[in-house]
Amino acid sequence: MRTQVAIIGAGPAGLLLAQLLHQRGIECVVLEARTREYLEQRVRAGVLEHQSVDILNAAGVGARMMRDGLPHHGIFLHFKGENHRIDFAELTGKAVMIYGQQEVVRDLIEARLEARQPLHFEVEDVAVSDFDTDRPRVRYRVGGQEHTLECDFIAGCDGFHGICRPSIPERELTLYERVYPFAWLGLLAAAPPASHELIYANDARGFALLSMRSPAVSRLYLQCLPDADLNDWPDERVWTELQARLGSQLAIGPVLQKSVTPMRSFVVEPMSSGRLFLAGDAAHIVPPTGAKGMNLAIADVQVLGTALERFYKSGSTDALSAYSQTCLQRVWKVQRFSWWMTALLHRFETDNAFDQRRQLAELEYIVSSRAAAQTLAENYVGLPLSL
Ligand code: APR
Ligand code: PHB
Repeated sequence: MRTQVAIIGAGPAGLLLAQLLHQRGIECVVLEARTREYLEQRVRAGVLEHQSVDILNAAGVGARMMRDGLPHHGIFLHFKGENHRIDFAELTGKAVMIYGQQEVVRDLIEARLEARQPLHFEVEDVAVSDFDTDRPRVRYRVGGQEHTLECDFIAGCDGFHGICRPSIPERELTLYERVYPFAWLGLLAAAPPASHELIYANDARGFALLSMRSPAVSRLYLQCLPDADLNDWPDERVWTELQARLGSQLAIGPVLQKSVTPMRSFVVEPMSSGRLFLAGDAAHIVPPTGAKGMNLAIADVQVLGTALERFYKSGSTDALSAYSQTCLQRVWKVQRFSWWMTALLHRFETDNAFDQRRQLAELEYIVSSRAAAQTLAENYVGLPLSL
């Protein structure tokens, strides 16, 4: 079997790349380890930058997002018992869109299957090779049967735990990493959100976040220990803790999902090796505080899709050679923002009273200085993607 681009992983990165290539008349095959049901049920991120919204619309998969998504024009920072609004519309003229990652994935899967383009689920033992030649290969099994796919390029969109990054010789890569001494306990609840906009809280008991998926479904998070055991966090304790940290009277409803997410910052350089290109979580992880994970994945594949289009139109490999550098320039700025939001809002066990006063002074500065508020706002709505 042969294709032009083999895509490993059907998360937002892999599926959107497939859609961008299909639009440009470039053939690809998507190979995914999990089932379609698993991908469409998995609750993950939920905030789209304004340019991610534009990219999904231009890709022809934005209709449901525009209908069901919730445009947000600001957020609240909560500290010392009060909410302070950061007005994105006024500070940047832009907004973000609340729309769950699994909804983006659902729309992209539907587009791919409707176009009758190859997307294989429950694929096992994927192995990539020969990407240092111009005939890369992907071997895999489906339903016990072995397959070999020859291609021009491989897109490694298989997430942080995928096989593509580890297939690159170690000596070619530099890894940059920070693991945080806390995690987020996340709750999805059938309860109307207590605020129409997100609330990010810095509280003496730890960070908390009020988000949502719809006017009837709340998405809530609180800082917990990295090895937190869900048995120690019955629903009642979670609700009490959220109320205390967010300082809001929450509407309490049935808990639909509860999980613990570890927090890390991670970047691999470069994001490519020969004809293998890494995109999304396969190349970088951000802590969720800035809501950037899905947006970085979308930006990467926009760059990669454009570079592949140039190659197939003109034979030029310039944009492909520049792929890693083009992405990394923006990735590091987004890493900085995600780290900064995390440091601003969480309790660190190594912090003393000085650090806590300093954190509060910084929050007070942000809500009282237009320059500081604008810095937060322009990063939150999304830095420009220059191609
Ligand atoms: N073979 C095939 N598929 C694989 C393999 C493998 N060996 N390993 C992983 N996968 C699949 C996973 O099952 C997953 O569906 O690759 C996909 C990777 O998708 P994501 O983890 O969603 O990563 P990405 O598309 O880069 O999107 C990044 O995900 O973690 C969030 O916050 C992050 O929002 C961001 C987004
Ligand atoms: C979410 O709704 O899941 C969400 C929102 C904002 C974040 C992180 C996650 O910073």
